[in-house]
Amino acid sequence: MDHPPHEFDAVASALAADGWCLFHGLLDAAQTRALGDECLAMHDARLLQPARVGSGRTASSLRGDSTRWFVDDALSGPQRLFVARLDALRGALNRTLMLGLVDCESHYAVYPPGAGYARHLDCLRGNDARVLSAVFYLNDRWLDTDGGALRLYLASGPHDVHPHAGCLLLFLSARFEHEVLPATRDRMSIAGWMRQRAFPARG
Ligand code: OGA
Ligand code: MN
Repeated sequence: MDHPPHEFDAVASALAADGWCLFHGLLDAAQTRALGDECLAMHDARLLQPARVGSGRTASSLRGDSTRWFVDDALSGPQRLFVARLDALRGALNRTLMLGLVDCESHYAVYPPGAGYARHLDCLRGNDARVLSAVFYLNDRWLDTDGGALRLYLASGPHDVHPHAGCLLLFLSARFEHEVLPATRDRMSIAGWMRQRAFPARG
């Protein structure tokens, strides 16, 4: 796929204006399906592990997903494509918004039926590296009645994003609290963060 350099312009404008946006042009349907198939296969092979919160405790009361981090020098083909595209978007945002984003980190996440993630901010305590949260959805034929919305708490009130395959949600990590509502079926995503250089807290 060839992507014109201006394809990310609308993303940059929306982020500058609102601090969040949805983007449907990151990957095509076949590329998205390859990630969904891989995530499901890894989940079936028990390669995902119950997620932890900042302090390293498992926190099933806070979040019920299982995750597997993408490892830079061990990326699968579909992962390599995803990471390349997210990096291209990061570069474009650096040029237009001068955000100083130095890298991305990403993991697969599967939320089994009934699992969610309580309202939270993505900034880790004492670490301001995460600037932009980027969640890419992998669920084919998702129905609104399946649940599993990402509820983003905007200044104007809550806004629900349904986890349809191919949809990328971007938002400023420090600005927007959000939660994952429980679904009636397995819910797959790639949660990613674009990061700045983090300086140790003073004092
Ligand atoms: C997270 C998160 C949202 C989602 O992992 O911090 O908020 O929709 N994920 O998977
Ligand atoms: Mn989050």
